[in-house]
Amino acid sequence: MSFYITTAISYVNGEPHMGHAYEVIATDVLARHMRQRGEEVFFLTGTDEHGEPVADAARAQGIEPKELADRNAERFKALMPRLEASNDFFIRTSDEQHMAKVQEVLQRVHDNGHVYKGLYEGWYCPQCADFKVENEILEDNRCPIHEIALTREQEENWFFRLSTFQEPLQRLYGENPDFVMPRNRFNEARAFVDRGLQDVSLSRGRMQWGVPVPWDPGHVFYVWFDALLNYYTALFYAREGEDLVARFWPATYHVIGKDILKFHAVYWPALLMAAELPVPRHVFVHGFLLGADGRKMSKSLGNVLDPFQVIDEYGTDALRFYLMRDVAFGGDGSVGIDAVKARYEAELANEYGNLASRTISMIVRYRQGTIPAVQTDGELAQDFDGLPDAVAGLLDRAQATQALDLIWQRVRRCNRYVEERAPWRLAPDPAAADALEQTLASLAEGIRVISVLLHPYMPASTTRLLGAIGSPAIDYAGAAFAARWSGARVHQLEPLFPKRA
Ligand code: MSP
Repeated sequence: MSFYITTAISYVNGEPHMGHAYEVIATDVLARHMRQRGEEVFFLTGTDEHGEPVADAARAQGIEPKELADRNAERFKALMPRLEASNDFFIRTSDEQHMAKVQEVLQRVHDNGHVYKGLYEGWYCPQCADFKVENEILEDNRCPIHEIALTREQEENWFFRLSTFQEPLQRLYGENPDFVMPRNRFNEARAFVDRGLQDVSLSRGRMQWGVPVPWDPGHVFYVWFDALLNYYTALFYAREGEDLVARFWPATYHVIGKDILKFHAVYWPALLMAAELPVPRHVFVHGFLLGADGRKMSKSLGNVLDPFQVIDEYGTDALRFYLMRDVAFGGDGSVGIDAVKARYEAELANEYGNLASRTISMIVRYRQGTIPAVQTDGELAQDFDGLPDAVAGLLDRAQATQALDLIWQRVRRCNRYVEERAPWRLAPDPAAADALEQTLASLAEGIRVISVLLHPYMPASTTRLLGAIGSPAIDYAGAAFAARWSGARVHQLEPLFPKRA
């Protein structure tokens, strides 16, 4: 089966921040997990470069929009390897191939009769030569950039007949209760459709920074239509010579934040229907990261958690783990450096890291570094019964935090097992040799299974650990607790999560 998963594409008028990192990490966890299961995966991310905010930010810095876009797109692109993101492509909406495809698809929407010319009215800044949207203008209707009074103006725009898609969208929602997840977001989107839809502006007449409207070159497409189409256009040129559209369209999962639900759950499927293209299978909506004080993160409040700071201090795996563990995926959550430290010490260093290092040390000390080739403990095995299926079932619904919790319960189970079996008491007693061997083999199997399942969350540390126990395979078939070990060699491992000052 093919599995096509995307993040939202980031605006390049700002810098990469924790919200962006969060979405990329969560999407990467799902992509890596599906690859483990042998699915053919394509994972797309990128940057959204056209539109007023980028043109405005460039103007404020006295440079061309393309220059600003080039500079900032690089910063977003550079974020991906630092997060260990396994994206297959990075799209920029200023890519020529993207722009040409946007024109082609929207021309079809036009030719299919879903577009008409109408009058658009809004708040206009003569210095920006641009309309401002209601939620960005300052008090007394002033420009957010120039702070001058905006004027109420009209212009001719092309409109998309969104209103005619109310019924088709209601049918889509009726037939696909998982079209939007989680459920509260599905209800929100459906209620929006049920309230009735208004046509939306598809073009801007006075802007130049965008994709030109092919049938009216004085206009550019409204940035959201250009941006949404990235999910489709990328497949045409991401890999030269390969027909990715046939393999991967429609997308399996769009992962997005709650602020852009309407565009993905309403505009996007309507646009695809208008272009006679299949609609995506699921839109997964995550919540917002807030500062440790529970307020929106902002520099002026001093409550910003910077992804680069966390990576520098604790490592990429720790950041990935922390975000997936501490913020229930789908809901909002507060994040802060103290909470990162607490999870790092209590769970990564003391639970998982310690389990790994003591298991390996005991195998080295008591059996010269060879995992005994004996039966594993049936009772411990039972506690892992059904685990891979349960984890897969949760991740099929993007429930990344619950899945991680199931795995973590086994980390704790194995630590308890060490205490119960106390290998250091068995070791000196020759009559307990069998019990000791079974204990060591079972622990090795426990950390192997746990590490295979944790791999999508913490790719680097789990790879190191699996290598150290001579069992590097990460495919999902190997996530079942085996009845026997075949006698692999282990080697000592530097602490996975060293203590920090
Ligand atoms: N460019 C649009 C998306 C176009 S998709 C066709 C956009 N860009 S954005 O840079 O503002 O946001 C990108 C993604 O990051 C969105 O899904 C958004 O919800 C998410 N986040 C931005 N800030 C966030 C938090 N503080 N917390 C979690 N995610 C948030 O919207």
